Amino acid sequence: EKQGFKHFMLKEIHEQPGVVRASLEAYFNNLGDSNQSPINLGLPESLYADLEQIHIVACGTSWHAALVGKHLIEQLAGISTQVHYASEYRYAPSPLTANTLIVGVTQSGETADTLAALAMEKERRQGKEPKYQARLLGITNRPESSLGHMVPHIISTLAGIEIGVAATKTFIAQLMAFYALALDLAYRRQTVSLDKLVEIINGLRQIPKEIEATLASQESLTEQLAHEFAETQDFIFLGRGINFPIALEGALKLKEISYIHAEGYPAGEMKHGPIALLDAKVPVVAIAVPGSVYEKVISNSQEAKARDSRLIGVTPVKDGEAAEIFNDLLPVSNVDELLSPILAVVPLQLLAYHIAARRGLDVDQPRNLAKSVTVE
Ligand code: F6R
Repeated sequence: EKQGFKHFMLKEIHEQPGVVRASLEAYFNNLGDSNQSPINLGLPESLYADLEQIHIVACGTSWHAALVGKHLIEQLAGISTQVHYASEYRYAPSPLTANTLIVGVTQSGETADTLAALAMEKERRQGKEPKYQARLLGITNRPESSLGHMVPHIISTLAGIEIGVAATKTFIAQLMAFYALALDLAYRRQTVSLDKLVEIINGLRQIPKEIEATLASQESLTEQLAHEFAETQDFIFLGRGINFPIALEGALKLKEISYIHAEGYPAGEMKHGPIALLDAKVPVVAIAVPGSVYEKVISNSQEAKARDSRLIGVTPVKDGEAAEIFNDLLPVSNVDELLSPILAVVPLQLLAYHIAARRGLDVDQPRNLAKSVTVE
């Protein structure tokens, strides 16, 4: 059933173009009919009406997807959005606010902390006036799960069953759900023009073949790098803006399957302490894609290089300046900054996979981890 791949994780990484295609088909309508919304999530207007704030609760990789989601919702739909670790929110919730949408993100639909946080939120709103009622939305890969029974509305992610313990294609599927949600909100609130909306959706339609190109070009690049990094003890991942959560996700993938210590940082924070960690033994992976923070990430990368760190750039290959400062390149195509996370994460998944495989580890069943965490 691994279809020729050595591990399920690698097979699942390669299934990602198909996951994006399935999501595009399900979440978006054919463009051209101006009377119809281009987004098709089937969510009622009552969920969105007079919305003032969104709180998202999640754990692990789902929490990283939620951070990308926050960026999309705030930038496209202009709704203030907070992302919480479910295990923290439960015991220290934000003050009750009116007209709030609560979103729980869990691929398995069984994560105890996420379910408990949603239950708490539901309960504390009971008996309050209507504008305080919990508007609950779940984003899950398993609509038949406990989450599915708990919340009235669901966006189903379309990853299919994921066997590798490290989440890969379910993460990409969650990102697609957040593009659809942010665009749906933006459409209904008219915060972006229809032209811009259509441009973003058309950009998303190019993503499957871009992921295919990334996979084709990077399988051997990441394998080579893995050879060199199999004995490395610490890694730093840097990103900014919408790609800061991707730095976190790259670090999480690496640590959970290779057991190498890795940290993700917003690149601008390095100089406030973590830069002290850097030397020739600590490689730095920087996500530097064109857009609002590109020059800043490049200059933060230069600071790391000045400390002798080996610099690996996830960056479009054609860029002369970037190509020069990085010791190694994991090239991704140049797409709209808003769409870049979905491409930038792919080489990081491959890098983590190949390092763990090179170290001879049980990639699909890493030590101490379970596919769904049903204890609090
Ligand atoms: C990381 C990973 C975990 C899960 C987390 C939440 O690769 O798989 O961090 O993302 O346990 O799981 P779900 O999404 O099922 O709630």
